[in-house]
Amino acid sequence: KVEPLKPLVVKEPEVEVDDGKQKVTIFFGTQTGTAEGFAKALADEARARYDKAIFKVVDIDDYADEEDEYEEKLKKENIVFFFLATYGDGEPTDNAARFYKWFTEQKEGGEWLQKLKYGVFGLGNRQYEHFNKIAKVVDEILANQGAKRLVPVGLGDDDQCIEDDFSAWRELVWPELDNLLRDDDDPTTVSTPYTAAISEYRVVFYDNADASVGEKSWGNANGHAVYDAQHPCRSNVAVRKELHTPSSDRSCTHLEFDIAGTGLTYETGDHVGVYCENLSETVEEALSLLGLSPDTYFSLHTDKEDGTPLGKSTLPPTFPPCSLRTALTKYADLLSSPKKDEYAQWIVASQRSLLEVMSEFPSAKPPLGVFFAAIVPRLQPRYYSISSSPRVAPSRIHVTCALVYEKTPTGRVHKGLCSTWMKNSLPMEKSNDCSWAPIFVRQSNFKLPADAKVPIIMIGPGTGLAPFRGFLQERFALQEAGAELGPSLLFFGCRNRKMDYIYEDELNNFVQSGALSQLIVAFSREGPTKEYVQHKMMEKSSDIWNMLSEGAYLYVCGDAKSMARDVHRTLHTIVQEQGSLDSSKAESMVKNLQMTGRYLRDVW
Ligand code: 2AM
Repeated sequence: KVEPLKPLVVKEPEVEVDDGKQKVTIFFGTQTGTAEGFAKALADEARARYDKAIFKVVDIDDYADEEDEYEEKLKKENIVFFFLATYGDGEPTDNAARFYKWFTEQKEGGEWLQKLKYGVFGLGNRQYEHFNKIAKVVDEILANQGAKRLVPVGLGDDDQCIEDDFSAWRELVWPELDNLLRDDDDPTTVSTPYTAAISEYRVVFYDNADASVGEKSWGNANGHAVYDAQHPCRSNVAVRKELHTPSSDRSCTHLEFDIAGTGLTYETGDHVGVYCENLSETVEEALSLLGLSPDTYFSLHTDKEDGTPLGKSTLPPTFPPCSLRTALTKYADLLSSPKKDEYAQWIVASQRSLLEVMSEFPSAKPPLGVFFAAIVPRLQPRYYSISSSPRVAPSRIHVTCALVYEKTPTGRVHKGLCSTWMKNSLPMEKSNDCSWAPIFVRQSNFKLPADAKVPIIMIGPGTGLAPFRGFLQERFALQEAGAELGPSLLFFGCRNRKMDYIYEDELNNFVQSGALSQLIVAFSREGPTKEYVQHKMMEKSSDIWNMLSEGAYLYVCGDAKSMARDVHRTLHTIVQEQGSLDSSKAESMVKNLQMTGRYLRDVW
């Protein structure tokens, strides 16, 4: 028997089918839920402002089943907004990928969207080369197909305060919507969007004894043949090894997830998404700050207009009924930094975590529903480039993960959630009661050329080596099976041969066997000057140029902020010098490599 206790606020779902009303559709392409949150915030405030219109928030993946439906449906729209995140190397989010592909394939100047008025807000990070590419491209195409741009494309920057960017952009939207949707007799008052967002949630409490239904972990008993972010696969940790030597002051973990018998499969170059749990010390701290019993059993509910659960594209939408301890352990990102406007400086600049903020205001104990609905983000999966090949390790997914361990300005040590979990995990080798995590595979386009004879150049310092270990395993297996291999170069970089030269023996074996033609390592902290992979690339300029001339693929993996950018510049220099080209010709040649899929990056 489940007895609802004190629902927080129950809001009647707004189901309106008044034909006289204008319809506004708000699409989101989200990876971590931020774009979806913005889309809903816009809809909430708009509903309060314009009661003569209907606002619908739509996961762009759910908009149409077939590609040709997009055109038919978009033609019928009147006003639309897009919230689109760009991630990785200028790619759309998973849920926007199908739409994006279709939309970018539309013939230019089609003019078929002349009826449409629109606004686009992008979510990106200025540190990355393709800052807000997806939003910019979609904005351009809409204009190109005849739609009327209501506001300039919003360029949200996650490196600063993306909430501020959104607020500023939203202020541009209202005057436009006032023109389109407001009758003269409408009041101009506005309710705050935050209360509306919270009011979509209800909390139901349970008697402890009745709550045995809860505490359900995500596992592979989900009845789904296909695993994804919403249906991860429970996988044991089979092997865990430290890759750095004891003389290193850092740590890098080699981890193997056992996927035997699960039906989960992967390809060389794919990513693995890993859900992990908060440390018990973090959970204890949150419990004492909330001042509630860890055995409070509850569930969170939302009543949406169309019946779909809130946060469909993130995970989990809500979560199964469980104890507060479980909810804090598995579903709450307790180490995240709250980013509300006024506190931006105090919180963001000092990197205060949510728990730090709460502990500075011990008397402020948010109710459970508010805490889980509006304050704490859901714990998101962490993605890693898989460092094995299914040809060599069909029943294992290997991960190579550097430990995140940093001092923040307030003196707190920020321990990376998932990297710490991996470092401390207990493998099957050591215990039957081993660690496990819900995982799933995300496909990537970081793939070896279909023809093994095509030359390849790989650049991956630090854990950027991960996918190349998979590539080399694959080449080794192909060679064993009798395939002929083209030449291959690997540029690896680390600080010191004696400390962090990860997988050294394996790499030498790949050279011995011929799976790798040349291994070139830059040690940055051995000599008096820093040696980086790009310096080694310059030394090998003519080899790189010759291989590119023969159709080589070039791959870069690792840190996007400095390494990948420096390597990109170096590639440009090599092409310019070796090809005796001017800078703009060199640039178009590098662009061309990118466009034709021969210059691929897996950067973070
Ligand atoms: P550093 O830590 O001595 O600066 C793997 O992390 C290796 O990448 C390390 O040797 C690191 O050197 C190096 N590295 C740091 N910044 C880099 C950059 N901008 N380009 C290439 N390598 C870099």
